[in-house]
Amino acid sequence: MPATRHFDAIIIGAGAAGMFCAALAGQGGRRILLIDHSPEPGRKILISGGGRCNFTNIGASAANFLSANPHFAKSALGRFTPADFIALVDRHRIAWHEKTLGQLFCDGSSKQIVAMLLDECAEGGVETAFGQAATVDHRDGHFHASFGQSEAKAPALVLASGGLSIPKLGATSFAYDVARRFGHKIVEPRPALVPLTLPEGQALFKSLSGVSANVIASTGKGKFREAALFTHRGLSGPAILQASSYWRHGEPVAVDFLPDQAAGWLRQAKREEPRISLRRALGRCLPDRLAETLGDQLNLSGELANIPDKALEGAERRLGDWHFIPNGSEGFAKAEVTIGGISTAELSSQTMQSKRVPGLYAIGEAVDVTGWLGGYNFQWAWASAHAAAQAI
Ligand code: FDA
Repeated sequence: MPATRHFDAIIIGAGAAGMFCAALAGQGGRRILLIDHSPEPGRKILISGGGRCNFTNIGASAANFLSANPHFAKSALGRFTPADFIALVDRHRIAWHEKTLGQLFCDGSSKQIVAMLLDECAEGGVETAFGQAATVDHRDGHFHASFGQSEAKAPALVLASGGLSIPKLGATSFAYDVARRFGHKIVEPRPALVPLTLPEGQALFKSLSGVSANVIASTGKGKFREAALFTHRGLSGPAILQASSYWRHGEPVAVDFLPDQAAGWLRQAKREEPRISLRRALGRCLPDRLAETLGDQLNLSGELANIPDKALEGAERRLGDWHFIPNGSEGFAKAEVTIGGISTAELSSQTMQSKRVPGLYAIGEAVDVTGWLGGYNFQWAWASAHAAAQAI
């Protein structure tokens, strides 16, 4: 039987949140053991942002997150801001740029962010056990972890093993299972930031596969002005991924295909260019294939001059509020994040510590706090990791 080694905290999951928490707590003088079942830490960081890691968003605030408790994220986000993470990135001389909407990306590669986090862990003297599946239990006031041939114990256990998105990258329900075992509630996990699929009845849009347009997509309380992309199975692109986090089965996603056109624009086009067809008028503001398909759907043929104003008004209304009723999503296999997770009701928003089991912490995507697309999820990983690291 191997000797049990003592640490101040055991962190399960070497993703964004786990590595950052380990580094900060280690640098704060804590003896930290960081365990991951994958031999390679930070796999999601590596593929994030198309390989350039959208590591934060300069506008991040609690308003950009979904959670059963919309106030929960405020404290952690307020105490570790995008500017704090940018300062760290700058200290490591990682060049970055703002792409759009406050989203910051590495100029080079996501590998730089993983290397930075591993350097920070080394500076904090963090001990790592990668490629090791662990089991944990709680006895004599300590958390015990068994992994491979080794045993470790600590008064603190940090659940940083993420959500269910992309099982082939190593996602498991570990955090939820452990939290449940300790009496915590789990808000039903669902795929989010995920392409939506359309039923056969709306299959004509299949012919548009690959076409994208700037739209406003809205469903539930979510409303996003970005690009939407038609795929051979349904809808994707940033506007739809964002809307997917708010979408519920059976509900429509409303798309405004012409957010920049003022009310009455088709009637005005009729006055200015009475001889053009509706399809041609649409082609002035939409990609050709989309204009053609929408024109066919509106079923108003001939020159604008011969289409009654009332019919043009109806067409405008429809183009501004086109309802798609998805029959599902591409699921966890394609979802960038998991919405739901360990309920915030039994966690301290100051420290991420369990209110039920002293010494138990949950951070990052495992918690029921889910960000929009655009660097918000990493900012939550950094901020929640920072909050826990101050406390352990
Ligand atoms: P994360 O999932 O990163 O890490 C969990 C770790 O726990 C993994 O290393 C895993 O191997 C380990 N683990 C799981 N089960 C275990 C077990 N049973 N035992 C031991 N270890 C276990 N966000 C953003 O802000 N900007 C972006 O550009 C992107 N881009 C992006 C692209 C793609 C394709 C995806 C899938 C996701 C993104 N995201 C993103 C979301 C972002 O990657 C995500 O929110 C964070 O990585 C969450 O960090 P965590 O550390 O909480 O979990």
